[in-house]
Amino acid sequence: MPPRPLLALILAAVGCGLPASDSGLASEAGTACIDAAEDATTCPDAADVDVAGAFVPVSCDEEEVISVSGVGELAFTDQMGVDLGCCYAAQVVDPTPGSDCDVGRPFHEGHRAVVSGVVPRDDWGGAALAVPTRSAPADPTRAAAWARAGVAEHASIAAFSKLALELLAHGAPAALVRKVHAAGLDEIDHAERCFALAARFGGVAVGPGAFPFTAPIDAARPLAALAADAVREGCVGETVGAVLARAAASSAPDPDVRAALAAIAADEERHAALSWEVVAWALRVGGPSVKVAVTAAFAAPVAPIDVAGLALRAGVDGALLVAAGRGGIAEVVRPAAAVLTA
Ligand SMILES: [Fe+2]
Ligand SMILES: [Fe+2]
Repeated sequence: MPPRPLLALILAAVGCGLPASDSGLASEAGTACIDAAEDATTCPDAADVDVAGAFVPVSCDEEEVISVSGVGELAFTDQMGVDLGCCYAAQVVDPTPGSDCDVGRPFHEGHRAVVSGVVPRDDWGGAALAVPTRSAPADPTRAAAWARAGVAEHASIAAFSKLALELLAHGAPAALVRKVHAAGLDEIDHAERCFALAARFGGVAVGPGAFPFTAPIDAARPLAALAADAVREGCVGETVGAVLARAAASSAPDPDVRAALAAIAADEERHAALSWEVVAWALRVGGPSVKVAVTAAFAAPVAPIDVAGLALRAGVDGALLVAAGRGGIAEVVRPAAAVLTA
């Protein structure tokens, strides 16, 4: 869907968006790992770990590790469950909060976008959707990129489940609750499509591991906080993501990839409009605190658009996607935000 029709869809949804990221860079609790030898059986003391070489596993972001503590445990640290590391409790900082996964709605704990690891299994797309049989050379890099997209889509299921609980907690109308649940079902389909393509390019069926929740979900947090996140993750993130997915679908040379991206783009355009509808409802019922939070979220700088993963998956030029993303902000997000906050 080109920018103008997408803008029209959004404006119709709100009956008549733009954000960004929090600027606070306070550290928060997380997990950090260091590489371990394949035959390692123990981990060094936290006091002996060089944090400059530590990293945060299975995350969409590039967090900086500030410190590690506690007892190190051996665990797989990569998206394919291959690389072994020693992992510790840690304090981390996300220098680009809001950039997260490249397409779709992330699941956040604090500033951190959380995703599952990737594990061998055939019940998340490998078998449920027939793996395309068109012959293609094995491409482990592209397979890993599709698996990474799969766990990001899988995280979107959790994100919409959380949003549904929050809407219930704030007395939202049935129409909104229904659409949010439907969006969660769409995300299951997206995850399966991504894992099916990971299987096709990698030659082995993979899927998500158990989702690594580390904190309770606060379904009753203030409506202003919900609305601000909806601006950041939905009105901006999902709208730009929908534009990027459509652009990638239009240019992807591989027919299987093109078909998957086209199906995802069509759903994401609907999800983008839903985010604007949620914010419009929150503004109607939430009073001045919601208005202040939404206005601030729209006024904040837009987070960097990460197109590298999508460009690799689609087999398209990243510059094309960057241009599309900028067009989405200028031609869809900003005009829709102006209408919504007028
Ligand atoms: Fe979505
Ligand atoms: Fe999605």
